[in-house]
Amino acid sequence: MIGIFDSGVGGMTVARAIEQCCPGFPLVYLGDLARSPYGSKSPAMITEYSRRNTEFLLKQGAKLIVIACNSAASTASPFLRSHYHQSIIDVIHPAVTKAAAVSRRGRIGIIGTRATINSGLYEQRLHAVRPDCKVHSQACPLLVPLVEEGWLERRETKMIVKKYLHPLRDKQIDTLILGCTHYPLLKKTIAPRIGRKVDIIDSSVEVALHLKSILDTDADLRAELYRPETPSRFFVSDMPSPVHALAATIFGRPVLLEQTDV
Ligand code: DGL
Repeated sequence: MIGIFDSGVGGMTVARAIEQCCPGFPLVYLGDLARSPYGSKSPAMITEYSRRNTEFLLKQGAKLIVIACNSAASTASPFLRSHYHQSIIDVIHPAVTKAAAVSRRGRIGIIGTRATINSGLYEQRLHAVRPDCKVHSQACPLLVPLVEEGWLERRETKMIVKKYLHPLRDKQIDTLILGCTHYPLLKKTIAPRIGRKVDIIDSSVEVALHLKSILDTDADLRAELYRPETPSRFFVSDMPSPVHALAATIFGRPVLLEQTDV
């Protein structure tokens, strides 16, 4: 199975994109809602949660891990890669590759949690692949709780999004990376407020396409993971009331959520 984890429902946007790109590859998903949000926690804490999540997914039969959380990817991926021999892919590299390729004037904005922005990993990676680019980052700590609350189209959410995007508009970015897997749920709110001419890069879609290209080229991994008869499973470490509706919005169908301790 393909193991996927996030602090909450955001990683379901990744799970959904993978489901669409890679049919027949069952998923085991873990949303660590009991400890969400990760983005305001210390790197040491996020690394420990990520370790527990990975252990859980491996016990469920995952053969490959997708870190579907930018906060975890930007702080815990070196630890996870050095401790586990399984393939581990994360949301950051595919989004960086895409943004560097499509940006017309090299003016790239990133929005994410505090943990992701403070890590500086997006800037570092963007400069490595496109040294001429100007990167502008904005931490948006209020957005994950608003999404987890299901406040996707509320007036208050629109006002907060506008305030966060204002400095990036001033910098005249041409490309915006949604550096948090919760943010695709706010795309309709974000797009008009950053400006229609700005290309929006959704890290969820990019990681799914990246995984598809890995599966297309690695026949052994493909054979190990392709199990069309096995159903996907979705675990959460807590079940606050908006979670079912959000999962149904993301997948376009009701999703059976199983509660577990991590
Ligand atoms: N979806 C997670 C991310 O991509 C949200 C992190 C959080 O829980 O703060 O960063």
